[in-house]
This record gives sequence, C-alpha cells and structure tokens, in this order.
Amino acid sequence: MVATAEKSEQRLSMQTDEIAADTTVIRSLDWDRDRFDIEFGLQNGTTYNSYLIRGEKTALVDASHEKFRQLYLDTLRGLIDPTEIDYFVISHTEPDHSGLAKDIMQLAPQAVVVGAKVAIQFLENLVHQPFEQQIVKGGSELDLGNGHVLQFVNAPNLHWPDTMFSYDVKTQVLFTCDAFGLHYCSDSLFDEDLGAIEADYRFYYDCLMAPNARSVLSALKRMDKLGEVTTVANGHGPILYYNVDELVERYRRWSKEQAKADTTAAVFYVSDYGYSDPLSQAIARGITKTGVAVEMIDLKSADSQDVQELVSRTAALVIAMPPASGNSAKATVTTISTILAAAKAKQAIALFESYGGDDEPIDPLLNRFRDLGLKEVVPAIRIRETPSEGIYQECEEAGTDLGQWLTRDRSIKQRKSLDSDLDKAMGRLSSGLYIITAQKGDMTSAMLASWVTQASFQPLGLTIAVAKDRAIESLMQVGDRFVLNILEEGNYQHLMKHFLKRFPPGADRFVGVKTQTAENGSPILTDALAYLECEVVSRMECSDHWIVYSKVNQGRVSKAEALTAVHHRKVGNYY
Ligand code: FEO
Repeated sequence: MVATAEKSEQRLSMQTDEIAADTTVIRSLDWDRDRFDIEFGLQNGTTYNSYLIRGEKTALVDASHEKFRQLYLDTLRGLIDPTEIDYFVISHTEPDHSGLAKDIMQLAPQAVVVGAKVAIQFLENLVHQPFEQQIVKGGSELDLGNGHVLQFVNAPNLHWPDTMFSYDVKTQVLFTCDAFGLHYCSDSLFDEDLGAIEADYRFYYDCLMAPNARSVLSALKRMDKLGEVTTVANGHGPILYYNVDELVERYRRWSKEQAKADTTAAVFYVSDYGYSDPLSQAIARGITKTGVAVEMIDLKSADSQDVQELVSRTAALVIAMPPASGNSAKATVTTISTILAAAKAKQAIALFESYGGDDEPIDPLLNRFRDLGLKEVVPAIRIRETPSEGIYQECEEAGTDLGQWLTRDRSIKQRKSLDSDLDKAMGRLSSGLYIITAQKGDMTSAMLASWVTQASFQPLGLTIAVAKDRAIESLMQVGDRFVLNILEEGNYQHLMKHFLKRFPPGADRFVGVKTQTAENGSPILTDALAYLECEVVSRMECSDHWIVYSKVNQGRVSKAEALTAVHHRKVGNYY
C-alpha cells in the first residue's frame, strides 16, 4: 500500500507490508530528508520503520517522525482500529520514532506503554498526564499470545541511553530501532541489494555507533543469547533479512576494531537537550577518525560509578554544556561534580555549547578544569546560531584535532621507527602532486594529495588514498563530488605551502587563494595546471586509509605544454 503527500519540495510516502507471521511494517518514507544530523551525509533520504505484531494481543513497536503525522496515523487507522492496540512499545524516545507518541497515546488510551525506565520517565514529562505503563528491563518478557512472546534486550547508547531491543520468539524477528539501520530510502523493503546499501550502512555505523563501540559489543553479547535471528527489523532503511549474519558481523568486526584502541575519549552530552546529541556525535566522529575510541555518556541518566570509572581511564573529557535549570539540571550538576572529582591533571578537556537556550556558561567550568591541571587542547566551541552544516563540520574537525593531539606520540614514533631498506625502497614510489577541493552544502575543504592514480577507462576513473583522519574524508563519501587540481611543475610551492598549513577547526581553507567554481560546485584552483571534476563511486577500506574510487565527469588543462609536478620521497612511512 502506498500513500503520498507532496509538501513543498519534499516527498513523503508510506508503505506497509507483512514481513513475518502476524507482523506488519509501517514504513514512513522520507525521500528528501535534509542533512541536519551528521549521519545523513549520504543524502539518500531515510525511512522511519514502525511495526504491528498481532498475537491474541496487539503490539505497536515505535511510531514515526511528526512530519508524518497525518500520513502515519491514516495508515495506522487503515490497518487497525487504534482502540484495539494493547501495547505501545517504545524502543527509545528520540523524536524521529516517538514524535507521534502523544498522538498514539490519545488515539489508543487503553494501550499500555512499554519501555525502559528512562523512556517512560521521558514520556511522563512529555505528555503530563497519567497513562498505563509497563517498565521493562533486559530479560523481561511480554506474552502477546499465539506464540508471540517479546523478549527485551538492553541496548543502552544504541543510540540513546534508554534503547531496548525486543525479540519475538515466534517469528525470530529482532526489533532494534536505530541499531543495524541506515539512512537509505527506496521502495525495497529488504536488504536484497547489499551493494546498493553497504556504503550507507557503514557511514551510519561510523557516525552513530562507532562512538559507542563498547555498548555495541555488549548488546551483541546479549543478542547472542537469544534464539536465531532471521530478521532485523530496524528503525531506519531496508529491513535486514537476506544479509542478517553478514551485516550483524560487520558491527561486531568494526566495534572490536574501535574498542581495541589504546586511547579513549569520553564524550558527555545530554540526550534530549538542544543540539547536544548531534553536536556531540559530530565531535565523536571526528575523534574516532583518528583511531581513538570514544565512549558517549548521557549526563542526565549516567550512573555515578560508571562516570567515575570512565573518567579515571580516559585521556580526554569532552563535555556538552548542560541546561542551567529545568528537569535535567539537578542530575547533570551531580554528574559534572563526579567528573570534576575524578578528573586528573594532564587529561585533555574540551567544552562545547549545546545551543539549548539555557546552557550553563562555559568559562566557570572550564576554569575549574584548568585549575585541576587539565589541558584545553581545542578551543571551546561557542555556538551563536542554530547549528548549520558549517558548525557540525567545525565540531568534527575539533574532534579530529583532539584525537590527533592524543595520538601525537604514536604518529611521531611511526615516522621515526622505520629506517630500513624496505622503507627506503617504498620511498622510491613516486607520484604527482594534487590538491583535492570539495564543497558540500555550506561545507568546504581541501587537501594536498599525492597517492592518486588512474583506475579505469570506461568510465574514466581514478583512485585517491585518503588518510582516515583527514577532514576532507567526510566530503568524499559515495555520491559526493569534488575537484582534483593537478599542480604544475615549478609552479606549485605557494599552493603546497598554503594547503599544508594547520587550519583551525571549521576554518575556510580558501582565504587568499584564487578560485573559480566548477560545474559540480567545488572550487577549482586558478593556478592549477589542470583540473578534473570527480564523483565518488565506491570506497575501499585499507587499514589507515580509504581508497576512494571516483569517475571523472569533465576536466581542462590550462597550459598545454606544462608538466605535472612530481613528488619524490625518501622513505615510505610518511608522505
Ligand atoms: Fe532514529 Fe535515535 O533515532
């Protein structure tokens, strides 16, 4: 069944289908969702998936984003009389799934709301009226009859502190909300085309789950104790059915990789205050790009022993400013006191505003950390307007700067340690000199590159190796466009010097450089010998680099006789 609403230029539609015995998915298809959270970087829209399970009793698992109010509620009413819903299961309370919770609670006042304690408290604050409720914990069961028994699995931090999976023992469907999801909107209900979705699946993991890798591993351990999982009924994107084992194993592999890092940064945020959550994700993503593990923790619901333990073993503390007053303030003040008591001299500290309208001021807290001997490695991020792409970029780059500072000894050691024949032999690999320039929305970036090579004739294509901790890496995802500027022999020093500078987070790399705009929107360096307009087709992970394969759509040479600048190196363990 499909229903559509045209709203300005945005396309919203609904899709429902049976995915297992007595189990119907209600998918809200958001084809053109704008990028406003960092994990939407691939711009393939998204879906919000909600499920109806009909045993002798009926359960609705999650709902939808409020922009789907009319469409979702009409679709739901077409499937069931809401007064026949017995249970409303809330996997977590982020508004993209529970934005219509209040509407459903009004349409189905008899339904018992089922969720973790934190989720129920959140809803109590949201609706301000009593409702039937059932708090569940990991291991709790809910018998819907006809064999449909829901077993609940604690999955905190995937992606909010209150997240709870549920597993139907009859259908072997595991309902996971954000986990194992992806922002990918298509008519396909399922994951039959792995090639089409895997880049989005990985990007979503990197943004939302990598900063919680230890929590992912804990949730996977709990999942292992369940019966067989034939279907992962996620909250975003195609439902996993054809590639369940493969895609679940990827979470395990990536999370183990993250969790084995020997340096950890703690990122404290407030799950439902201002822009604390998406801004902290952007910072966390920037940190994880450097190979530093991140653990995110909610200032409001954190357990004080967990906070103490985390603070005592991390190299850096990143804190989103909590609200100065209101419901959450008391809990957050207690957590901040715990952090202050456990913090150690020489740890790095980074503070940023949440832009929630009532943020605690940064400076008094920063001064207390300074007095304790902590080091302010990146400047505090002060936000004066609704966060734009540029601000998210600044946060990500600040995170990367922090991660690079934390791993500086490792980087220096890597450069020094290898002085063998092998190293010198590798150094004889030579290449050209290039500058990649990119613009995506209001974000721009640039990077000096030398590991570039032609890779195909039809279409014309090339590969570029980009270190994982490069800022521009975020603008070189599948489908992104950029320009490869080819530098000229004898006429590149000024450009090389400019782009090798260390830029502060979010800085405009093009100030003082002559540019023109390419058809794909990225800057062309006027002084380059030639340029190629490229579009990313695929990416291959190669240890500490991504190999980015791109097709070349057009290009031009400015001087017919000039030669490309060549980069000769002495050793192979550094550029
Ligand atoms: Fe899809 Fe955490 O909400």
